[in-house]
Amino acid sequence: MSVSKQDVLDAFHFRTACRYYDGSRKVSREDMDYILELGRLSPSSVGSEPWQFVVVQDKALREAIKPVGWGVAGQLDDCSHLVVILAKKNARYDSDFMREVLLRRGLSGEKLEAGLAVYKKFQVEDMKQAENAQTLFDWAAKQTYIALGNMMTGAALIGIDSCPIEGFEYEAVNRILAEAGLFDPAEWGVATMVTFGYRSKDISRKARKPVEEVVRWVE
Ligand SMILES: Cc1cc2nc3c(=O)[nH]c(=O)nc-3n(C[C@H](O)[C@H](O)[C@H](O)COP(=O)(O)O)c2cc1C
Repeated sequence: MSVSKQDVLDAFHFRTACRYYDGSRKVSREDMDYILELGRLSPSSVGSEPWQFVVVQDKALREAIKPVGWGVAGQLDDCSHLVVILAKKNARYDSDFMREVLLRRGLSGEKLEAGLAVYKKFQVEDMKQAENAQTLFDWAAKQTYIALGNMMTGAALIGIDSCPIEGFEYEAVNRILAEAGLFDPAEWGVATMVTFGYRSKDISRKARKPVEEVVRWVE
């Protein structure tokens, strides 16, 4: 690993939520592929990878999101790329989706069944996330935020700005994107979005709580 701690810290200081993009500057396809690869390589609980990254460059779709996307409307004309992050619905221990997680690891037969039993205990007893469709979706959505963070940090490391987006009407955005054929709403839902591009003006960094308030060592 050749990157220095200071390089990484500099990237964290550089990364601020970018609300004003320079519409004349586009992120290259190569750089977007790099950012999306960071999402794909991100860790997820039990290796579930319950995400899809949909790059929405279509002007009409972006226009349709504006009236129901109060937190992103002002960025949609000028950001270079808009990535909608989908989370899997109903990733329950007994679903084909979770079975495929184990198949990807090369498990079969009794070992696969034993793995599914572990998932059942985990989801039903330990985390209590198999209780209903919403808790299952929320579990998947939590995983997508890891990918979100990694993509934004990786972008910052190469000087690309970003803004995470939760400021939108979830029902409306899900409907618009599903009706456009981007996903099957029985299987997937929008977890979050993120814009990428280049800032058009300096951004003053927001304050952070002091380290003593957020870090505790127990020794
Ligand atoms: C999950 C998440 C959702 C956010 N949604 C929005 C949004 O919809 N619109 C927006 O302009 N900023 C959004 N933000 C940016 C936050 O307001 C910002 O990260 C926070 O104020 C800290 O500032 P900084 O990112 O510049 O350090 C979001 C941030 C996170 C982490």
